[in-house]
Amino acid sequence: MDRRGFVSSGMVAGLAGLTGSSGAVASLLERSGVWRIGKTLADGTVRLSSNENPLGLAHGARQAVVEHLVDANRYPGDWRRPLVEALAGHVGVDVDNLVMGAGSTEVLQMAVQAFSGPRATMVIAEPTFEDVPRYQRPFAYDLVSVPLTSGMAHDIGRMREVAESAGRPAVVYFCNPNNPTGTVTPSADIDAWIADAPETTCFLMDEAYYEYVDDPSYWSALKWIESKPNVIVVRTFSKIFGMAGMRLGYGIAHPATARRLSDFISANNTNVLACAAGVASLQDDALVARSVSVNTEAKEIAQQTLDGLGLEYLPTQTNFMMHRIHGDLGNYIERMRQSGIRVGRPFPPMLAWNRVSFGLPEEMDRWAEALRSMRTMGMI
Ligand SMILES: Cc1ncc(COP(=O)(O)O)c(C=O)c1O
Repeated sequence: MDRRGFVSSGMVAGLAGLTGSSGAVASLLERSGVWRIGKTLADGTVRLSSNENPLGLAHGARQAVVEHLVDANRYPGDWRRPLVEALAGHVGVDVDNLVMGAGSTEVLQMAVQAFSGPRATMVIAEPTFEDVPRYQRPFAYDLVSVPLTSGMAHDIGRMREVAESAGRPAVVYFCNPNNPTGTVTPSADIDAWIADAPETTCFLMDEAYYEYVDDPSYWSALKWIESKPNVIVVRTFSKIFGMAGMRLGYGIAHPATARRLSDFISANNTNVLACAAGVASLQDDALVARSVSVNTEAKEIAQQTLDGLGLEYLPTQTNFMMHRIHGDLGNYIERMRQSGIRVGRPFPPMLAWNRVSFGLPEEMDRWAEALRSMRTMGMI
């Protein structure tokens, strides 16, 4: 069976067992499309714009959401506890190391706030994920962007110079793999810096796409959290677990740092349904492999399409890819939109490139067809 068949049949078999046993409620849910794998928007638009997981919630998570609807009138504390315990087991840390967020972006925001100060520098790559530089705006950070190297890695030498030369506290944001480029910076190079950085340099390690990576030069920064209170690892349920709309993410840090971050948490920030879906997702042993598998298939379609058109692309370790376009980026995005396909926004300074998120194989086929038709019209 090819991978496309494997992914679909595995999902359907799981869903059939679930819906078959739940009587009238199941049939209602079935008719409402709750168990459908993947879903284009109501108007038929294909979303390849926001690095979402096209498989949707795992079926166990969908069932958990339905079951816990009756608890949605309660504050989430009692539902958060089992999630945090399951997550600690999953990551291999203690519950005191974890800080939960309404998405990982909230944990990034907490870190930006917690480590701000009148003399602090923030060092980021360019281009990189925009939330962290956006969150620092109300604060007195001195923001410095350091262009990626020609190999699309973080320029560690230059970042280090900026962070340490002024002898002031610094927050260094490493989005690894990097969004929007999908590329990784070798972890050994980052480790060498962390190992002898001053403790006033805070490393904010964004590992949103950690589970997709198969490059052996990459590993998590998790190993530092006990010995280095200045290292914060941030991960999410939005990508590999397909829960972007549920808003669940987490930070992993030394207990003292986790407490410091928690001073900036908004009360009751992870809701009952997200907690239940999170626990169920962690219990689904095959979920990560399923998500990686469909992602790999989409990546192959993207590569073949771009190779066929002679369009350059960056080697990706994520669920999206940056590829060249020829012609005006705004026109390209609009033309795709008219074809019913949403692709990534502009990421300055890479304005001759577009980011496409990986969807279901049939969605990738639609994207490929639209690209080829634009080539015929001389647009790319
Ligand atoms: C690198 C990176 N970090 C964090 C996030 C935020 O994700 P969420 O808040 O859904 O966990 C994203 C979302 O695309 C991302 O690409």
